[in-house]
Amino acid sequence: MITGKTVVAGVAGRPVAHSLSPILHNAWLQAAGIDGVYVAFPLESDTFELFVGGLRGGAVRGLNVTIPFKEPALKVADSASELAERSGAANVLVFEPDGRIVAHNTDGVGLLRAFERQAPAWDAKAGPVTVLGAGGAARGAVAALLMAGVPQVRVLNRTVAKAEAIAGALGERVVALPLGEADRAFGDATAVVNATSAGLSGEGSLDAPLEATPEACVVMDMVYKPLETPFLAQARALGRTAVDGLEMLIGQAVPAYEIFFGQTPPAAVDVRALALKVLNP
Ligand code: ATR
Repeated sequence: MITGKTVVAGVAGRPVAHSLSPILHNAWLQAAGIDGVYVAFPLESDTFELFVGGLRGGAVRGLNVTIPFKEPALKVADSASELAERSGAANVLVFEPDGRIVAHNTDGVGLLRAFERQAPAWDAKAGPVTVLGAGGAARGAVAALLMAGVPQVRVLNRTVAKAEAIAGALGERVVALPLGEADRAFGDATAVVNATSAGLSGEGSLDAPLEATPEACVVMDMVYKPLETPFLAQARALGRTAVDGLEMLIGQAVPAYEIFFGQTPPAAVDVRALALKVLNP
């Protein structure tokens, strides 16, 4: 029941109508018996700052922010977590009662949680990880992998200058390479992460030589529409352990929920099954 005390949170994006976040958060809220609600806010591109500025003071507790507002979200905040700063983007904004806006980035934690759940034997510290792509999603992944203790992260991108920019921003444990060097960058990788938008429904697929990875290599795709991308299907056909983008989406929602509502989501709710029903009706 919505009351006079209902805590409101939500997700802002463009487009946002097909976001799975309201489904995850509201299922948790309901199971936990919290007087809260989580809604989607569809925004036009030039209204983001205006919208967020109007929420200063905390009438709305917080927002998840998705494409294309993650970089503007970091800029609009008064302070930011170290991971948000290093990622160059925020996917969570909190509206403090004193008017301040605090930015977090839980995407990277989501990526690490997805590894924990779907590739529990993977050890971050055991060797290099190769990340494909050098957009916002890739930078967040690199920041999280470094935080987890990965000794070297190789960023491979079609446009190598963008990979070099990430290496420049995130330090000497990051190596930038052209996509054509994938063979070499895969050979001793403990994991390969696709952070390109290739594989998204309607986008071109990625031609990556996954057969060059060691047998124990974990292969992850951040894309979850479709859930089984051609990249993940190729990895599974080779017998590699696969980690999917839906588990990362759920993994970023857990700490976001904790920030908004002050408690851990109830473990008994199978939010993955709920999300799968929406993805594959
Ligand atoms: P996001 O915010 O999701 O990271 P982005 O900033 O648009 O999105 O970045 C998309 C990434 O996917 C880029 O690294 C892009 O490569 P370029 O920088 O060379 O454009 C990569 N990408 C998209 N389609 C690709 C394809 N078909 N093959 C290889 N890389 C692709």
